[in-house]
Parts: sequence; structure tokens; C-alpha cells
Amino acid sequence: MKKIYVTQPLLPELSDFTAQIEEIWTSKWLTNMGEKHNELESKLKDVLKAPNVSLFNNGTIALLTALKALDLPYGSEVITTPFTFAATPHCIVWNNCKPVFCDIEPDTMTIDADKIENLITPNTSAILAVHVYGFPCDVEKIDAIAKKHNLKVIYDAAHAFSTEINGRGIGTYGDITMFSFHATKLYNSIEGGCLTYNNPELVRKIYNLRNFGIRSEELVEDVGINGKMNEVQAAMGLLNLNLFRQEQEKRAKVKAFYNEHLANVKGIRIPKMPENVTDSLQYYPIVIENDYPLTRNELYDKFKAINILTRKYFYPACHDYECYKNDLAVKLADLSVVDDLKHKVLCLPFYGALETSDLQNICEVIKLAN
Ligand SMILES: Cc1ncc(COP(=O)(O)O)c(C=O)c1O
Repeated sequence: MKKIYVTQPLLPELSDFTAQIEEIWTSKWLTNMGEKHNELESKLKDVLKAPNVSLFNNGTIALLTALKALDLPYGSEVITTPFTFAATPHCIVWNNCKPVFCDIEPDTMTIDADKIENLITPNTSAILAVHVYGFPCDVEKIDAIAKKHNLKVIYDAAHAFSTEINGRGIGTYGDITMFSFHATKLYNSIEGGCLTYNNPELVRKIYNLRNFGIRSEELVEDVGINGKMNEVQAAMGLLNLNLFRQEQEKRAKVKAFYNEHLANVKGIRIPKMPENVTDSLQYYPIVIENDYPLTRNELYDKFKAINILTRKYFYPACHDYECYKNDLAVKLADLSVVDDLKHKVLCLPFYGALETSDLQNICEVIKLAN
């Protein structure tokens, strides 16, 4: 029986990729802000509708650098969501800050902006929110809270490549936004990522931090890391930039199929993207409510038995990790919505090359349990 994975990486024609590789061989320039790197950085400004873009070798190093660039005080608290990938809170700790987990909003599953203010203390320095599954956080409310309490705002937009809110690039909210170009993302450069930001004063700082702090041959300005994207990654990124819109069109059809066939299944909730938001189309999460005959885990197992590999994103939630769960503040935190949803969300296979027969099978499995 063939295996159906939750996603399939977007791949250009191999001949197009080898042509790019030949150019790299000829140039003998493999990394360190090469031609392809710079071309991709510049093209991404248009795609993401952001005034400043800095490329990175992966999204995690990009996020780590974003927090570093904002100079968050040592030991300060960063309010974040536990309903995310491990990289989000880990980047806070790697910056010598403390993650303070805030509960999520049941519909979009993003950080509940109404619960943020209660968690603010004199030691809070920032909010790190995640546009989970591409659902935008309440950016206006978060902006107002940050202004009122003088906090930095960083967005993890690993799931929201090309998302726009009322035509505005999602990467233009907050102080800095991170995008991931990992192979499993809608848009990939094998591994890779970028930061977007409005403040031109951050350009120099982020450039330095990405490159060991080295400004010029004899000048080292900052305690930087190696976050540079290489030319092979950039070549892949350039080719996939020509393809991701087509992939989105195909995924829009897959989404429409699921929406139509699952709309009336009792106990299945399909979280809705707001009207004014363009969907990145990276994930298709469903919520298995209590009135569905199977639990989320039972449905997951049922799929697995027939080689359909769905994902329990995000289970465990971050506050359940061995490295966070014993913290007293974590033990005392009210995370009841996350604690409910982490047992109920299932991400279905979602990529353009899914065949109609596969989609029919997947929907039948969900319907037949009913
Ligand atoms: C929400 C979120 N944040 C951060 C990352 C880290 O990105 P990367 O894999 O590019 O390091 C990912 C995915 O991998 C993610 O899903």
C-alpha cells in the first residue's frame, strides 16, 4: 500500500536545479552573501511585501537572531504560545530569557491576546507570537498591548509564507517576523528562512549577527553567529519562488475538496481563515470534537493503519516538554484551551499532488467512523 505523507516538498524540475548548480560551479562562489543569495533576498521583498528582508540558513537561527537583535534584557520574560513547534520557546531560552506560556484562542489557535496582559510583570520584555497554521494572531490587539507596556513584538510566521491581512504583508507587523523555508513548508529552500522588519536601523545589526558580527575584514562589531544561507539553498529558493503560487492554486482545490466533504461530518470542526486574510495554504488542521465517535488519537491510528500519515500538531504542547514542565510558573499556568486542543487537532495530508482518489479515501475514513 502506498504511503501518503502529511506533505510533500515542492521540487523544481531537476534539470532547472542542475542548471543553477552549474552556474554556482562556474562562479566558484558557494556561500557568504553570493549573487543568488542577494537576488533571492531582493525578490522576497516583493513577495512578502516587506521593506527589509534578511535571509538565513534556517528559521530557527533566524528567530534566535531576531530576539538577539532586539537586545532583550538578560533573564527577562517573553510571553509566548505553547501551541507551536519546539523552536519557538527554545529560541527564548537560548537568548537567556524565560518563556511565559499564554493560553490560546479556540478558533484560530493563536495566542489569546485577551490573556496576555495578565501575564505581564515588570520583568516582561517581549511577546513572541506564532501565526500557527497560517492563522494570523490578533496583530492589532498585540500591537496595542506592546505599545502600552513598552514591549517588543516578534512573530513566528513559519506557517504563514505570503499571507496578507487586508493586502498587507504579514511580515510587516511587530518588530521582526520570522519565516521558515524548511523542506516541509509550502515554500522551501531545502533548509532556510528569513527575517522581515520595518525598522531600517535593524539592517546593520541583523547583518552582523548573521555573520559572526563581522562587518569588514578588520572590524568585528557584534557577538554574531553563522546564520548565512548558502548559494545552493538560494538557488532552490529562487526556483521555488516561481512555483509556489501554482502549488497554492492546487492546494486551494485540495482545501475546497476537504471543506466540501467534511463540512457536515458531526464532531469535525474546520477552523476558518478570516475573510480578509489570504491563506498561505500550508496546513489543513481539523478539530476532532467530543461528539465525534473516535478520539483524535484513534482517528490518527486508523489512518496510520492504512498508511495515511496525519500529524498530531502540536502534541505534546511546549509546556509539556521535559525541559519546561517542571517550572513552577508552568505548573501554575492556566492553559486550559491548549490542554484541550492539543488532544483534538489533526493535520490532514495537504499538498498539491494529492490525487482525488486519495482525498476521497481520507474523507471516507473520517465519515465512516461517524
Ligand atoms: C512554528 C515554527 N517555528 C519555527 C520553526 C523552525 O523553522 P526551521 O525548521 O526552518 O528551523 C518551525 C518549523 O520547522 C515551525 O513550524
